[in-house]
This record gives sequence, C-alpha cells and structure tokens, in this order.
Amino acid sequence: MTVRSPKLFVRSYGCQMNVYDAERMSDALAPEGYVATETPEDADVIVLNTCHIREKAAEKVYSELGRIRKMKQETGRAPIVAVAGCVAQAEGAEILKRAPVVDLVVGPQSYQNLPELIARAKAGARPVDTDFAVSEKFARLAEATPRAIRGRSVAAFLTVQEGCDKFCSFCVVPYTRGAEVSRPVGQIVAEAERLAAAGVREITLLGQNVDAFHGEGPDGRSWSLARLLYRLAEIDGIARLRYTTSHPLDFAEDLITAHRDLDKLMPYLHLPVQSGSDRVLKAMNRRHKAADYLRLIERIRAARPDMALSGDFIVGFPGETDAEFEATMRIVDEAAYASAFSFKYSPRPGTPAAEREGQVSEDVKTERLLRLQALIAARQAAFQRSLVGRPIEVLVERVGRHDGQMAGRSPYLTPVQIADCEVAVGDLIEVDVTGVGPNSLFAASRKPAEQPKSLRQFAEATA
Ligand code: SAH
Ligand code: SF4
Ligand code: F3S
Repeated sequence: MTVRSPKLFVRSYGCQMNVYDAERMSDALAPEGYVATETPEDADVIVLNTCHIREKAAEKVYSELGRIRKMKQETGRAPIVAVAGCVAQAEGAEILKRAPVVDLVVGPQSYQNLPELIARAKAGARPVDTDFAVSEKFARLAEATPRAIRGRSVAAFLTVQEGCDKFCSFCVVPYTRGAEVSRPVGQIVAEAERLAAAGVREITLLGQNVDAFHGEGPDGRSWSLARLLYRLAEIDGIARLRYTTSHPLDFAEDLITAHRDLDKLMPYLHLPVQSGSDRVLKAMNRRHKAADYLRLIERIRAARPDMALSGDFIVGFPGETDAEFEATMRIVDEAAYASAFSFKYSPRPGTPAAEREGQVSEDVKTERLLRLQALIAARQAAFQRSLVGRPIEVLVERVGRHDGQMAGRSPYLTPVQIADCEVAVGDLIEVDVTGVGPNSLFAASRKPAEQPKSLRQFAEATA
C-alpha cells in the first residue's frame, strides 16, 4: 500500500519577504511529508500568506476565503485553511470571527510552529499564534533541501533582517512585523552557501530596512550590511548580490564604498523617498528632506555611475496640496529613476496618519496617481531605450515565452528576452540589446567564444 503525500498550497500576497516566508513554510512542512501543489482544489492544507499594507491588499484575503468556502462546498473536501502573514498578525482572532472557513491563524514571526498548529487544527481547535519570536523562528526553521532549492529559481531571496522601528506615520509594517531584528552573520552565510551549492547564482538579501542590518558577526561584533555583502561575495558560485529595501537614513558610507568595490553587487537600488515635499516628508515621519535624498543618490552615483535607481511614492497623503504633489513630480525628474512604484495613500487602522484631518478625496488621488505614473513610465522607457545597442550581462533564469527564447534579468533588474540561443538556466552571459518591449528588453546572445573572459571563467568554475 502506498501512502499518499499530503499536499500543500501556499498563495503569497505583498512583498518579497512574503515570497521568502512562503518557501520557508514549505521547508517547515517538508519533513512532515508535505509536497507542493499548484492548485487549492487538491490541497490538504491551504495557506494564504497575506499583506496588510493597503486596504485593497488586506481585503483580497477575504474574497479568496469566499472562493475557498465555495470550493469546499462544491467538492466536499475539507482542507485545513490557514491565514498567515501580515493580515494574520494585524487582525488575529478577528479573522476567525469574520471567516468561519479559517482553521488557523499564524503571524509572520511564528510560522515555524505550523506543523504543530496544523495538528491542533485537525483536532478541531482553531489556534491563533501571533507571537513575535524572530530569532527563535530562524533558529528552529527546517533548512531547504537541495532538491527544494533546485525546484525554485537560480535567483533566490534570503531574509537577513525583519521588522521596522521607523514608524512612518502611514505604515503598518512596524505593527505587523514587529521591532527590527537582524539575523546572525553565521546563519546567513550558511544559508547562502547552501543556496550556492544547490545552483543558486543570485541572492537578494531582504529586510524591511535592510540597510539598517546589524547582525552579530562570528567575531562577536555587530556587522553592517556592507560587511555582510563583502563576506557573501567570497562565496564561489554566487555571481550576483542584491538587497532590498533600503531607507535613506540608514544608507551608510561603507555601503556606498561596497558599490564601488564589489563587482558582484548589482548596480540597482530600490531607495524609496515617498514624496518630494519637505512638509509631507515631515508629516510622514521620514526624518529627512528631499534635498538630503538627492544628495545621497549623487554620492551613490559618484561611486557607481551606472546605478539604476528605483523608488516608491505615495500620492494623496493627508493634507497633500497640489503644490506639494508637484514637488513629488519634480523629484521624480531630478532623481532620474530607472523604475518606480506609486500608490494612492490608504488609511490603515492603528497608524497615526489615518486619524489626521485633510484626508484627500479619491478623485484627487486618482488624478495625481495617473499623472505620476505617466511620468514614471516615460522615465522607465527612456532608461530602457538607453540600453539598446549596448552589451549587457544577463543571468538566464527560465525558458522564455516563445520557442527558442530564454529569459533572464539585466544587472538593472530589467527582464530580458533572449532570442535563438543555446544557453541554459543558470548561465551568466553577455547579450546585445536589440529592442525594447513594454516590460522587457529584447536581446541577442553572443557565441560562447565571444563571451568576456570573466564570464567564461565563471562558467568553468561552476560547471
Ligand atoms: N520598508 C520599505 C517599504 C515597505 S512598504 C520602506 O521603508 O521603504 C512598501 C511601500 O508601500 C512603501 O514604500 C510605500 O510607498 C507603500 N505604502 C506603505 N504604506 C502605505 C499606505 N498606507 N498607503 C499607500 N502606500 C503605502
Ligand atoms: Fe514602513 Fe517606514 Fe518602516 Fe518602511 S521604513 S517599513 S515605510 S515604517
Ligand atoms: Fe505587506 Fe507585510 Fe510585506 S504588510 S508589504 S506583506 S511586510
């Protein structure tokens, strides 16, 4: 008699940190025999790994739960339904009241307890675990097996820091993820080495404020993000390093130097400013001025001239006037972004800004967002056009959409579709950019013999 493996379905919303957490949840349940499934219909455990950052994101979970309830009725199946992530942390037991279909609630700092929570849910309890125990979490989580790593991507995420002490007046993250905690350097290096040994070529270090990283080093001292990056750059097989998201206040001089020194550190930086108006920045509790931000990116570009910059913007923050919004339009121009994300301000329960006077109407927010997005799109297109005709390095991450095509990313994180090439996933190659699509670059590969020497050496070393 063969025993059927129980199936796990995890759907993640929100930021990359949730993507990482979802992988770690699968790792935590793998020793219990769970295998992944792509559809909720045949799952034994369904996990919704949620995001609370804006109202729309938080509401998505309830429409998804509605679909799951219907699916249960139609199929007669009774999978365990878990709500994880930031909505779980923010709403806790409220979720059980609002959605009877939910069997358990687990916050982002306690999912190492999933095996036990699932057992309790199966026994009929409806457990809620929203404790904060970050250091315990990472110490107790099961490691990913080489097979699990190979089944993912050659570009992996690695959380090095969690939580946030900044308390921007609009943001729920300090409440949903708790205080800032950095993982010890030894633990991070060991995880990076395991990823590299299983074929990972690019690692993106994650943290809500990753540039505030201050993990304990093997020497017992506190290490900066820059120092960690120098250490990770020594790992054979790792060709590229990235990190996200940074806060302008924590961007230290040694990190700027690392961008000058480390070839493996990619010239792409997500550095949100949120607004171009000093009054709005103050009301947001960002604790720096627009000019400080511009000076900082000037210093970064002096160290790494081809740095592609990305950012986040909020329009319609309470009290934002037309003139203040124009200041945001100006900083987008001045900072010369390669890409940027923009959002309508969403009042979040428990945050100071949600209670403020001067909430901006939905119509005005929409109008401002459309104008800002048009400007960002024009900037992004100009950046992408500037790459046409130039050779760029691409990490091949997957097969492309069309026959014979492979897809990867440039150093600047732009998706690249490579035509007619005989390259494999995991290859690092130089290509010539031939054109620009709506969301990606088109490129032609060069023959192996025409590849730069450094890339050929890397290919030999990792073969
Ligand atoms: N830690 C990162 C960002 C985390 S949230 C940082 O400090 O930059 C990602 C983005 O969501 C933020 O940069 C911000 O632009 C946006 N955001 C956060 N709260 C929001 C809210 N209440 N309404 C609209 N956008 C919000
Ligand atoms: Fe939120 Fe601000 Fe912390 Fe970023 S720095 S996570 S926007 S509170
Ligand atoms: Fe969302 Fe939580 Fe990330 S609120 S953006 S999933 S930290």
